[in-house]
Amino acid sequence: MFMNFEFSENLKNVKSSEIRDLLKYTQMPGMISFGGGLPNPESFPSHEIQEILEDIMKNYASSALQYGQTDGLPLLKEQLKSYLSKDENINIETDEMMVTTGSQQALYALAKIFANPGDYVITEGPTYVGMIAALNANSVNSVSIPLDENGMKVDLLDDKIKELKSKGKKPKFIYTIPTFQNPAGYTMTLDRRKELLDVANDNSIPVIEDNPYGDLRYSGSKIQSLKAIDNYGIVTYLGTLSKVMAPGLRTGYTLSQPEVLQKFNLLKQSLDLASDSLSQYIAYEYIKKGIIYTQIPKTIELYRKKRDIMLESLDEEMQNATWSRPDGGMFLWLKLKENMDTKKMLKRAIENRIAYITGSAFYQNNPEINTIRLNFTYSSDNDIKEGVKRLAKTINEEIRNNKN
Ligand SMILES: Cc1ncc(COP(=O)(O)O)c(C=O)c1O
Repeated sequence: MFMNFEFSENLKNVKSSEIRDLLKYTQMPGMISFGGGLPNPESFPSHEIQEILEDIMKNYASSALQYGQTDGLPLLKEQLKSYLSKDENINIETDEMMVTTGSQQALYALAKIFANPGDYVITEGPTYVGMIAALNANSVNSVSIPLDENGMKVDLLDDKIKELKSKGKKPKFIYTIPTFQNPAGYTMTLDRRKELLDVANDNSIPVIEDNPYGDLRYSGSKIQSLKAIDNYGIVTYLGTLSKVMAPGLRTGYTLSQPEVLQKFNLLKQSLDLASDSLSQYIAYEYIKKGIIYTQIPKTIELYRKKRDIMLESLDEEMQNATWSRPDGGMFLWLKLKENMDTKKMLKRAIENRIAYITGSAFYQNNPEINTIRLNFTYSSDNDIKEGVKRLAKTINEEIRNNKN
């Protein structure tokens, strides 16, 4: 006889992620999946990391296998500082940086630090599932601002904030993924970035900028991050080495005002004491030796080709949808006719051996049910072509079926 466990209310809003649920289908023989958000293992610097590991074990084993400082390995923080200055034109002091266990840890921590249960925040609609999970785990509500091909529709922001304030629900932060957004693939223009900062500052609302994909640009020219142009000191910036080194090492970083990071430090002591020391040593050597600067162009080359294949295949095969044309990142966003429900269509898609994530997974509430996120980095080039064919066939069948 097992015990009858009594659980707290804390996780009552947390549902299993559709992305994890999809895994059972992706194991089926012959399935092509555009569902996951995984980097391609071909982009992993395995050989270089093997050499780095040998060096670490020779030179720093006693500290690399030991507990570390909660705010991160000082050697790594120095390297990240110079990388951010070169790469993003972000110039900060080391007490404005915290190393995190992936940027996911920062999403959870910031939701807890800035918002009480029942409070409201503003996100983009659609937004990153990991942020929705972090909000749900902290019982925080969100209101979303829609996106177009120029990113968040910032012209709607001020009115939305005023509306929430008038109901006594002043948003506790604005969360944005301005560059190669996950899931939509759009990038916010510089003008909108400036306007977002002005509106947020006028309303005294902090901004969280999540930038995991900024280095993965395949076309167009770089747009400065919100953090780089923030003269108000309101932006907390989340970076990660997941997409430019390897996600399994779980190494990210948060840049913010020291008083925000002091709160984060207190919380992190209860989460994991400190991030993985060995991973931090690997990241330190990876940047110091300059491997990051040779690895990123290789990853860009690999992914640019895959993006182009997916866009060309969509242009050739897809008649009944529109889609984003991302300049970087890992995803594009497909919209079907308004009355179509991509969740309902998934059964047919699975029968046709093509898996995807329904767009509704990327909304905490009020989903656009006619949307799909497509990942283009993981599948082989041939599978991308074949998968798009299967998806177009599925959509055409569904339309015919809806008419009957
Ligand atoms: C927008 C966004 N934020 C955060 C993360 C989490 O990344 P990490 O591996 O650093 O936890 C991801 C990962 O896919 C992401 O797409």
